[in-house]
Amino acid sequence: MSDLPRLGLLYLDHVLQFFAPSNFKGWPDKIEIVTYHWGNDKERFIKEVRRKKIDVLIGNIPATAYETFRGIARELPEVRFVPSLDTQFPNKSKENVTRLCEKYDIPIPPTQIFYDKNEAYRYLDRTTFPKIIKKSYGPSNYGGYFVHKVDTAAEAKALFDAKGYFPYYLQDFVPMAADIRVMLIGHRPVCAFWRRPADGGWLTNTSQGGNMDYADVPQEVLDLSVRVSKATKAEYFACDVAVGKDGSLSILECATAFAAFPYIRDWIGQYLVWLLSEGKFRKPWIPLYNWEELGKLSSRVLRRMRHIHFDQDPSLCASETGEMYQDFDEEQGYPLEVITPRDSEEWPSEQWQRTPLKSEPDSSPENDTSGNHAVSRTQP
Ligand SMILES: Nc1ncnc2c1ncn2[C@@H]1O[C@H](COP(=O)(O)OP(=O)(O)O)[C@@H](O)[C@H]1O
Ligand SMILES: [Mg+2]
Repeated sequence: MSDLPRLGLLYLDHVLQFFAPSNFKGWPDKIEIVTYHWGNDKERFIKEVRRKKIDVLIGNIPATAYETFRGIARELPEVRFVPSLDTQFPNKSKENVTRLCEKYDIPIPPTQIFYDKNEAYRYLDRTTFPKIIKKSYGPSNYGGYFVHKVDTAAEAKALFDAKGYFPYYLQDFVPMAADIRVMLIGHRPVCAFWRRPADGGWLTNTSQGGNMDYADVPQEVLDLSVRVSKATKAEYFACDVAVGKDGSLSILECATAFAAFPYIRDWIGQYLVWLLSEGKFRKPWIPLYNWEELGKLSSRVLRRMRHIHFDQDPSLCASETGEMYQDFDEEQGYPLEVITPRDSEEWPSEQWQRTPLKSEPDSSPENDTSGNHAVSRTQP
């Protein structure tokens, strides 16, 4: 037995798995799997983690199990959750994304969240339009399906009355040129692409006809996504940055659960192998802007490609003419960083669990088979 920590993958019944043991190529020990079965499975789950002597439990927790897992994590203080429950805070709801951004002074579209209907409707009577209304919490990954544009107070009230969304989540409509999805590992951007609305539309979700491309993602967008990743202390992360027609940048969504091609999950695995072995294994080298090159391949190829490995050793990479491809070999201001475990709770449920529990069933994920809430799991 090595002196490495014992790893476990956190699975939930009926939820798509983000990681498989094969993502952790080279890890010499058995990687355990612990599956949560929903509905009062908490005590059994805790016992299984203890019995298997797991030190690090890796995986995304869907919104519908988030509060349960905050409780589980408290009962397993010796276990490191990767990502931590605090890091997964924005996975739970759009409200949580808003709270996170408010705390860290990260730009978001002006947003109002009400828990009182009268207060919400009074606000509607005095505010400006158009507004965006979103379902904050619940099964997601429907790509814009629970996001609505309203032009009058009457329309907004009719929508709330019909849909029953709670809390009342209202956002200023930002005329958007596009939004940009950025994926990060250890605070280093590893993939980024534009999503532009279809002609005449305003939703940029690719499932709603939006187009995507990988070219010329502005550095300011990468910088903003790094700020959000650092605010959540995320081992891996994705942000959607809205690019306004006026050039302004704001965060629309962010989460540790997101759609990622298998080779990106391999990169996360390789990063975690390096991180959790405290450097006994090779630090992965993921060139910045690799996406501009890989993005030229068809998604049919990208979906099947595994274990892409870049070598940073200049002796192996020099061309016949001795050229070193310097720009490709440098960190370019975005080092792959070590994320250390937290020693206290940043977003305790006593303070932040504000949705009535009746709307948070920990039974089955119902329609949410994605394993995530905030950022769609469907392939881009
Ligand atoms: N405040 C806003 N102003 C303009 N468009 C928005 C706004 N919020 C969201 N959108 C559009 O709606 C899409 C879906 O919203 P989002 O918050 O990402 O929810 P989800 O992807 O979970 O359905 C975004 O990708 C964007 O195109
Ligand atoms: Mg979205």
